[in-house]
Amino acid sequence: MKLAIIGGSGALDLFGSKKKLAMTTPFGAPSDRPCEVEFGPHRGWFLARHGNPHRVAPHRVNYRANIHALKALGADSILAINAVGAINADIDTGELVIPDQIIDYTSGRAHTFSDGGSAPLRHIDFTWPYAGPLRQLLVQSAADAGVAARDGACHGVVQGPRLETAAEIRRLKADGCDLVGMTAMPEAALAREAGLDYASLCIVANPAAGVGEGAISEEDIRSVLARSMARVRKLVVKLVESLDPTDPRIT
Ligand code: HPA
Repeated sequence: MKLAIIGGSGALDLFGSKKKLAMTTPFGAPSDRPCEVEFGPHRGWFLARHGNPHRVAPHRVNYRANIHALKALGADSILAINAVGAINADIDTGELVIPDQIIDYTSGRAHTFSDGGSAPLRHIDFTWPYAGPLRQLLVQSAADAGVAARDGACHGVVQGPRLETAAEIRRLKADGCDLVGMTAMPEAALAREAGLDYASLCIVANPAAGVGEGAISEEDIRSVLARSMARVRKLVVKLVESLDPTDPRIT
C-alpha cells in the first residue's frame, strides 16, 4: 500500500518533516504542494486540502488536481481526514467516525474525470463508497491504538462554505445522514474513478445546526479540531506501523 493523506481543517500540522513537491496536473494546480512525509521507516504523502495557510473554500478545492497529483506521485490509497458536524444525536462532539456511506448534495463542482476530450466515459460502481482494504485497516488501527472511532455513518456532503439552517439539517436527517460536511465529495468519487482505494476519518467538530443549543462558532470548531489531532495522529501512526515494514516506499 502506498498511502497518501489528504488533511482538512485542523490537520495542517499533523506531520513534522515535510519536503514539498512542486507539481501541476492537466487539471491545474493542487490545493498545495504535496509533502513527502516520514512515518518512522515509511514514507508517504500529505496534501493540505484547503492549502497552507488554510484559504481554499470547499467549493473551490481543485479535487481533480489533488487526486491526480497524488496518483501521479505513486499513491494507491488515500486516507481523507474530514471535519464534520453531527446530525445523529448519539454522536458526540470530538468523536472520530469512519463513515461507510455518502449522500452528495454539492453542486457545480468539477466532479468527474469523465469530462469530455479524450477522457474515457466511465460509470463507476459507487454502491459502497468506502469499500476497500484501507477502511478496514483504519477500523482495526483505531482498535489497536486504543482510540475510540465509530465504525459506520452516512456522511451528507453539502456545498458550504456557510453552515446549514436547522431545516436543512432536519432534511438531511430524514434522508438518513448522520454527519454533515463539505469536502468528502467529489473527492471520494474521483478517487474511485482514478482506481485509488479511499477511506475517510471524520472528526466531529460540532453538533449540526439545530441539533445543539444556540449558534455554531468557528472558534469552537477550531478548538475541538485542535484538541482532536493528537488522537488522529495516534491512529494514523498505528495504521502506518501496521504496514509492511520491509517495504521502504511506505507504505
Ligand atoms: N456543517 C458542515 N460542515 C461542517 C460542519 C457543519 O456543521 N462542521 C464542520 N464541518
